[in-house]
Amino acid sequence: MKNLIKYSITYFFWTVLFVYAQAPYSLSRLPYGYKDLEPYIDEQTMIIHHTKHHQAYITNLNKAIQGTEAEKLSLEDLLKNISKYPASVRNNAGGHYNHALFWTILTPNKNTSPSKRLSDAIQNHFGNLDSLKSLMNREAMNRFGSGWVWLSVDENKKLFVSSTPNQDNPMMDVADKRGTPILGIDVWEHAYYLKYQNRRGDYLAAIWNVINWEEVSKRFELLVPKGKFDDWPEIKEFHKVMAQTFHPSEEGNLEPIKTRSGEMAEKAKKLMASKIPAEFDKKEIRASVKKLAIESEKLHKMVQKKAPDEKIKKSLSDLHDVFHTIVGLCSGEQHQH
Ligand SMILES: [Fe+2]
Repeated sequence: MKNLIKYSITYFFWTVLFVYAQAPYSLSRLPYGYKDLEPYIDEQTMIIHHTKHHQAYITNLNKAIQGTEAEKLSLEDLLKNISKYPASVRNNAGGHYNHALFWTILTPNKNTSPSKRLSDAIQNHFGNLDSLKSLMNREAMNRFGSGWVWLSVDENKKLFVSSTPNQDNPMMDVADKRGTPILGIDVWEHAYYLKYQNRRGDYLAAIWNVINWEEVSKRFELLVPKGKFDDWPEIKEFHKVMAQTFHPSEEGNLEPIKTRSGEMAEKAKKLMASKIPAEFDKKEIRASVKKLAIESEKLHKMVQKKAPDEKIKKSLSDLHDVFHTIVGLCSGEQHQH
């Protein structure tokens, strides 16, 4: 009898362990308390949303993929190929991914703000942070029924705002606009109904108070690594004029350099006056930058005096070589236009 009990307990233990170990997905704890997002998102909503809704997506996802090849894929790979799978996988894989992301981009900490680089990207794409928020709120209000609104990075490293129905997201191959989300707002009624009832607009206005911009920035920076010359805008400015004048000249078109030689000399002067980032601040680079300024000025004078085309072309080509020397010294490799 004793042996039978012992055997049963052991059997039960191993069965539980086996089933548990088999399930690829499980619910993670929140990085803050259920109460912590109040008054913007209430405790009861958070508890139900996390332990019931999110848990249900996980349970159903594990069930839907059990014994199929989808079990071996990462969640991201599954989403990227979601059109190959039935609706039960699409809804629950999306539900798990979206909520897992959602919890991390919320925080009780006030005063988080986008990093300098994310802030610059937001400015370039949307004007400013408030315009981004308005755009996302508009998309969320226009989402009929249940869904999500997203800020994502596309394959060209550009930010975009979109909204998806149900538990779809921009990572899925069925999405209209594809990319990797860095911020997602749940606009299912289960995310706000207890506190805000039908007032989706009030929920949207409130949620911006608990967005974790540090986490959103971290996600952005992983997807869009810093460019080598991001801290030296003057060399990027010079490069622009160089690229737009040198290449046409190589093809026999000297018009661009003839109209822009003054601008090029100006940019070279600014480059010489610029603060060279510490990592590039070497004697050889300083010397080449100085040479670039002197030679650009000479080229400009040549253009003003209507020197023969061959001379102008040669001078620009030499200038281009000096530029390559600088970029080559910075990177230790050949610069590519
Ligand atoms: Fe939700």
